[in-house]
Amino acid sequence: MHRRLARFRVSRPGNPGRIAATAAAAAALLVLPSSSPAQDGGPGGEAATTLDGVFTAEQAERGEEVFSETCARCHPTSRFVGATFQPSWSQAPVSTLFTIVRTQMPFDNPGSLDRDEYAAVLAYLFELNDLPAGDRRLPASADSLRAFTIRFGTPGGGGAPPRPPPDR
Ligand code: HEC
Repeated sequence: MHRRLARFRVSRPGNPGRIAATAAAAAALLVLPSSSPAQDGGPGGEAATTLDGVFTAEQAERGEEVFSETCARCHPTSRFVGATFQPSWSQAPVSTLFTIVRTQMPFDNPGSLDRDEYAAVLAYLFELNDLPAGDRRLPASADSLRAFTIRFGTPGGGGAPPRPPPDR
């Protein structure tokens, strides 16, 4: 139902898009110059992560409204922080989380929000995890979000937290 507004290239052959593990340690300290490439298909090849300020505070605020209107009746916010959330999503591309939420949530009416609302709700989930806001809006397309890797604030960026076995 929602067509991609525009298809910009996001992956370039030969471009090391997946260097998150080592680059994230540096990325955690570096604030990338934000000329707003994120709207146009992602910054060209840097390993941007959610530690870099990939959403705006205003977006997270909007996301909080969406969450309380649409998600909170099934999910306590505690579902999306710490050990119940971070181990399964650390190192995943933001696009994966976006697509899952957009195509499967709300569980009883998937896809019923618009893309900006889904992006906002992800921004809110990131904020819940103490990830920093920045001056770029989180793009509302999976193509663009593929450029961002989910990372949480583990000191030194030293990899994913330990993975407990899934409960269910
Ligand atoms: C009608 C109930 C319901 C609503 C409303 C709902 N969800 Fe869910 N959601 C579920 C169920 C059931 C699951 C699978 C069990 C679980 O992971 O908690 C799930 C799973 C998820 C997951 C996967 C969690 C993980 O770590 O793998 C995410 C993310 C999620 N929901 C986000 C949302 C968001 C964001 C909204 C609001 C836009 C929302 N849900 C609305 C029922 C719901």
